Amino acid sequence: MNENWIAPSILSANFAKLGEEVDNVLKAGADVVHFDVMDNHFVPNLTIGPLVCEALRKHGVTAPIDVHLMIEPVDRIIPDFAKAGASYITFHPEASVHVDRTLQLIHDCGCKAGLVFNPSTPLHYLDYVMDKIDMILLMSVNPGFGGQSFIPSALPKLREVRKRIDDSGLDIRLEIDGGVKVDNIRDIKAAGADTFVAGSAIFGQPDYKAVIDAMRAEIAKAE
Ligand code: DX5
Ligand code: ZN
Repeated sequence: MNENWIAPSILSANFAKLGEEVDNVLKAGADVVHFDVMDNHFVPNLTIGPLVCEALRKHGVTAPIDVHLMIEPVDRIIPDFAKAGASYITFHPEASVHVDRTLQLIHDCGCKAGLVFNPSTPLHYLDYVMDKIDMILLMSVNPGFGGQSFIPSALPKLREVRKRIDDSGLDIRLEIDGGVKVDNIRDIKAAGADTFVAGSAIFGQPDYKAVIDAMRAEIAKAE
C-alpha cells in the first residue's frame, strides 16, 4: 500500500451503481474507501448505513473501508458497522458523551478508531486519548455535503496536529476531508496530511485514474 492514501468519498459516487463505482475507483489507484454516514440530526443530510457497507464487502471490496460517522449518538451503531466490514470508524467528539469509551468500543469491535474535528472544533479532545487513536481526521469543510470549498484554516491546524503526532511517536494517520482537489493537495501534504479524502474532485471527473495520478504527482512535489 502507498504511504499517502487517496480515499475517495463515495458520497459523490453514482449510488445507482455503487459497487461498480467503488471497483472502478480502486482500480484507478485509490487506497481506501471513504464512507460518509449522515443522520439528518448531527448534520443536515441523510446517507448510508451498515447495510451498504456490508453490501460492498459482499460485492467483493477488500480495500479498507473508512467509516466517517456524522451521527449522534454513535455507540449503538458501532458494532453494526464492525460486523458490516468497516476497517476504520471515526466519529466527532461532540457526538459522544464519553469519547474515551467510544474509542475503546471501536477497538473492542476489532476496528481502528479515529476522532474527527470540525473546522471550529478545538484539538483539546486529543489531550488524554492519543494512545487510543489510530487516525485523526480534520474537516476542511463543515460536514454534511460534498462539493464545498476548502477552508484555509485547516492548513495551520494540520501543522499543529502533525506536530502532536510526531511528538507522540505514535502510529496515527492524519486525514483531511473536504474540498481537496489536485490544485490544493500539495499544500495539504506539506502541512502534514497523509490521508486525503476527495469526493467531487474524483467522482466529478470521467477519468478517475487521471485525477488520482495527478493528485499523487502533486503530493510527490511536497515530499
Ligand atoms: C462532508 C464529507 C466529505 C465529503 C467530501 O461532510 O465528510 O467526505 O464527501 O466531499 P468533497 O471532496 O466533494 O469536498
Ligand atoms: Zn467524510
